[in-house]
Amino acid sequence: MKILKATWESPSNIALVKYWGKKGNQLPLNPSFSMCLTNSKTITSVEAIESKSFGIDFYFEGQENLKFKDKIEKKIYELENELPWIFNFKLIIRSQNTFPHSTGIASSASSMSALFLCLVDIESQLNGTIIDLNRVSKLSRIGSGSASRSVMGPLSHWGKNEVFTSSSDDYATIFTPDKDSFLTDLHDAIMIVESTEKSVSSTVGHSLMNNHRHFESRIKNANKNFKDLISAILENAFGAFSRVCENEALDLHAMMMTSDPSFILLKPNSIKIIELIRTWQKDLNLEITFTIDAGPNIHVLYTNKDKEKVEQLLRVHILKEKICHEIIFDKIGKGPNKLL
Ligand code: DP6
Repeated sequence: MKILKATWESPSNIALVKYWGKKGNQLPLNPSFSMCLTNSKTITSVEAIESKSFGIDFYFEGQENLKFKDKIEKKIYELENELPWIFNFKLIIRSQNTFPHSTGIASSASSMSALFLCLVDIESQLNGTIIDLNRVSKLSRIGSGSASRSVMGPLSHWGKNEVFTSSSDDYATIFTPDKDSFLTDLHDAIMIVESTEKSVSSTVGHSLMNNHRHFESRIKNANKNFKDLISAILENAFGAFSRVCENEALDLHAMMMTSDPSFILLKPNSIKIIELIRTWQKDLNLEITFTIDAGPNIHVLYTNKDKEKVEQLLRVHILKEKICHEIIFDKIGKGPNKLL
């Protein structure tokens, strides 16, 4: 009886140009760009035991979890043609996150990418081949769109675009910045304004793009922002980078606010944080900006150059003033890592 094992850690990622809206089998409507994080990650191990019938036992943070088990089983049946070998095995999957579930940090990117890294690793052991990361990214994408990017660290883009001829809707591609780029040690401090589950699921969120009256304008703007972001990075121009990050975050929320049904996910404290950042940019000339996912928490992005000053400001004017109730300090990370 064959028993094969793999353990991987895979990071969460934060999009600077947002994937918003999908077509076909989880293909993006526009190109997106993101950075992997260092501290916010999922660690997953899979044990595949040869068996006459397929089945999954799923343990999340040590406890059997039937909800996640059903979700993964469904995904695996969807991928029947991609992973035919899997039906000769029983899988024991153990998964844990390094960030608390209650922080509102999306775990689908890190968890789906960690799972497919393990499965493709086991497949490679069976076939005696090396792991094809493009294939991992593609399968992770089918698990959750943003998971395609977690496979490719530290930075990656996903979705056919005009800038990179090698770009694809199927999988993400690594982007390597210059050694002296401000991006190589960009920080992300996540201001937890609210830690309850997001009030719009990603399935509902993406579907808001269908028949949206600003559909064309959003696609045009996302493509322009993608191009402008890459130019800003290549020119090492933090100001231009900052303009794109903020415009993308606010465009995403504008799309949600003006969709039918409409969602307002920003809270009064989210706006307060944005206002403070704008004041510090203007008055203190700091390299600081922000991005936001589909929730109320603000990701404050800042360069290593201004790290001490920014973190002091965040602690004194945001945490102490109770504008947020927790700050998770994270930074750009290398991407996934094989543990066993
Ligand atoms: C706002 O990847 O969570 O975070 O493909 O339905 O699983 P599914 O969606 P998901 O969407 C992420 C949306 C976003 C922007 C982004 O990460 O690009």
